[in-house]
Amino acid sequence: MGATGTIGVFSKAEIGGLELRNRIIRAGCFEGMCQNESPTEALLEHHRAVAAGGVGMTTVAYCGVSRSGLAFGHEMWMREEILPMLARITKAVHEEGAAASIQLGHCGFFADPGITGEKALGPSRKFCTYRRAFSREMSEEDMDAVRSDFGRAAEMAREAGFDAVELHSGHGYLLSQFLSPWTNRRKDRYGGNLENRVRFPVSVIRGVRERVGADFPILIKMNLRDGFKGGVEVEDAIRIAGYYEAAGASALVLSCGFTSRTPLYMLRGKVPIMGFVRSADGVLPKIGMLLFGRFLVQYYPFEELFLLEEARRVRGAVKIPLVLIGGVCSLAGMEKAMEEGFDFVQIGRATIRDPDIVRKMETGAVQASDCDHCNRCVGEINSGPVRCVCLDEGRALPA
Ligand SMILES: Cc1cc2nc3c(=O)[nH]c(=O)nc-3n(C[C@H](O)[C@H](O)[C@H](O)COP(=O)(O)O)c2cc1C
Repeated sequence: MGATGTIGVFSKAEIGGLELRNRIIRAGCFEGMCQNESPTEALLEHHRAVAAGGVGMTTVAYCGVSRSGLAFGHEMWMREEILPMLARITKAVHEEGAAASIQLGHCGFFADPGITGEKALGPSRKFCTYRRAFSREMSEEDMDAVRSDFGRAAEMAREAGFDAVELHSGHGYLLSQFLSPWTNRRKDRYGGNLENRVRFPVSVIRGVRERVGADFPILIKMNLRDGFKGGVEVEDAIRIAGYYEAAGASALVLSCGFTSRTPLYMLRGKVPIMGFVRSADGVLPKIGMLLFGRFLVQYYPFEELFLLEEARRVRGAVKIPLVLIGGVCSLAGMEKAMEEGFDFVQIGRATIRDPDIVRKMETGAVQASDCDHCNRCVGEINSGPVRCVCLDEGRALPA
């Protein structure tokens, strides 16, 4: 039990039949630790450390379901040849007593044609300012192919020893692009009202469920809000949650934001302009970011549990476990999440700052993470492996 008499965050819990040693999951945080579109030893060591640090489950982040779903050269995509390395990663995580999940997604209209060798796919033709190119509207055949890629990727993840998959349906990735009226302007049965916009994402979840069977946990990361006028709002998210539960989701991770438009909405906190400048692709974008970054990337103040208000509105709509994410960085915050009826929490930056943070909280050595949400870990994401830049610069961790 927690200090307040509710379910304790360090008690065991189940997601879709999988028992976790506690209710704390490392959030999918792109590690930048892939080469040649394949996982590396560094990725293995990263997740071994996070698992040893006490989480119930760690999430290996962004894995494209196909090459066409990649936005960066140092991402991986699911295929036979990477399974042996993924199997080593899951074994290392299991040896530390944690479960392993992998985030599967497709980035849709902001895919990089320089990597994928083809025009980016999206629900509608749309100009991507980041790529300075138009995407192509997906046909029904494209949708069949992507649906099958999701199913195949999930099956392979299970084969590699993952205990769960997390399908990315938030942050403006392809499934989220179908949900958002800003990116989905289709006139057919996949566009228009919410029932139509949710049709393709729902068919993907159903397809994955058919391929992996009834007893394999499928988490879905989805948006409570896109973060701009004309995007998905909480009222939509409540309905989407119901559709996803009916389609076979085992749990929902309730996030927010659109990578190509409101990149810091899902994070809150300081704007790491210099990191974005270093990560920008080419001289002109670097200069543009340096001069106009403050206007291009909006600032959203950080608050602990910044999605609590919106996320609690989904609680009454579904029975499956709900995962609170966003500014979960103290023991008190985690206990508050449990009191509010969430079954799990996901934590990102706190584990980048200190992979041992969960163990330290469990033993009472610390009460909260000392991450200051400078977001330089995100700003530098395209210029090396993910790390706490403050730590690199000598701001030591508490004992
Ligand atoms: C360095 C970094 C990389 C991230 N990469 C991903 C990602 O690949 N997929 C994803 O869904 N979210 C990603 N996120 C967002 C986190 O999963 C999470 O939603 C966000 O950090 C808020 O949680 P926190 O306050 O515990 O950090 C990333 C966050 C950080 C800090």
